[in-house]
Amino acid sequence: MSLVIAIDGPSGSGKSSASKGVARALGLRYLDTGAMYRAMTWWMLAQGVPVQDAEAVAARAGEPVLECGTDPDAPTIAVDGTDVSGPIRTREVTNAVSAVSAVPAVRERLVRLQREVIGAGGIVVEGRDIGTVVAPDAPVKIYLTASEETRARRRAKDLAADPAATVAVTQAEQARRDRLDSTRTASPLTRADGAHEIDSTELGLTEVVETVVRLAKEST
Ligand code: C5P
Repeated sequence: MSLVIAIDGPSGSGKSSASKGVARALGLRYLDTGAMYRAMTWWMLAQGVPVQDAEAVAARAGEPVLECGTDPDAPTIAVDGTDVSGPIRTREVTNAVSAVSAVPAVRERLVRLQREVIGAGGIVVEGRDIGTVVAPDAPVKIYLTASEETRARRRAKDLAADPAATVAVTQAEQARRDRLDSTRTASPLTRADGAHEIDSTELGLTEVVETVVRLAKEST
């Protein structure tokens, strides 16, 4: 398998910026698996499926057709042919996604799809279970963290257009999501065996990207 770089970590740890930066620096593709769980959640909400009802979610998990574009300069996610890159970032989706992603039928479907996209490699993949479940043989595994407050500040900046998304509200919603993602039965967020832990609280994006690029070069 050619290079696969798995980058896992909690929300707001800087995974997306770092993953895209590493993919650009090394000429690799980029897959945002969080966008896939968000797209599935967006579709469930649009269909009126009660997302807290795991059985109802499982029963519909096979229906939407997801397509991912893996260019790190313009990643895309489409559901049934419609680009949903914008709508999947709303607070409504963000606050519902942990319930949908905890459903085993959803995970089985999306993990299969993620492995198809990874194919023969040459890709940076970000998520919560990439080093543990999706690509446990990835030659480079990163567990990216940052302090809770730093992560909330970064998220709130992303959500600047939403006046309700203050740092305090974002921090509370994020803590809830991280708790759900880390304590669920199916593939909880946890540091994979052999993963390099990088704490980005005091690091700039360039330093994080450089660290991962160095680890990738050392692995080959
Ligand atoms: O990375 P992002 O914050 O966009 O992910 C949204 C949600 O998707 C996470 O809170 C988590 O519930 C779910 N997720 C997951 N497994 C992944 C990636 C994301 O369960 N590999």
